Amino acid sequence: MAEEKVSRRDFLLYAMGGWAAVGLGGVLYAMYKTWEPLPEVKAAGTVRFDLSKVNPGELKVVQWRGKPVFVLRRTPDMDKCENRSIKDEYTVVIGICTHLGCIPNWEPDKKIFKCPCHGGEFNACGVNIFGPPPRPLDIPPFKIEGTTIVLGETGPEYEKMMKG
Ligand code: FES
Repeated sequence: MAEEKVSRRDFLLYAMGGWAAVGLGGVLYAMYKTWEPLPEVKAAGTVRFDLSKVNPGELKVVQWRGKPVFVLRRTPDMDKCENRSIKDEYTVVIGICTHLGCIPNWEPDKKIFKCPCHGGEFNACGVNIFGPPPRPLDIPPFKIEGTTIVLGETGPEYEKMMKG
């Protein structure tokens, strides 16, 4: 059986190759850590809100990334909101009119959102029903954790909703 001898030169080449690989790994890890947002930055993009705090028929406004998010707990006499409903009874939409960006008001007696700028109207699901708004109020990305909604993260409920 022939015994292979590792020369001093081969040994040095292997050793240098090993050190280069370790160094490259370190550089790549440092680059990854530099580009990855800090945990506090990641968390700043999300807002948690307990849906059970909203009484039937009540509207709460939650601030998320500088935008008002309407959380409406619908009652049986309001629109059913197929595919725009969370837990069968909540409407959660960004409260910015899809016409020119005004903030609609909730009118509980009519059960609609009415935009003060040009009279656009949205039903209790946030769907445009009258006036110039070209489309429904946007639904923010969300995730459900028990009775808590996490705005700014996408969960399976949101993805299903977006697929229509
Ligand atoms: S901005 Fe709302 S209807 Fe024009």
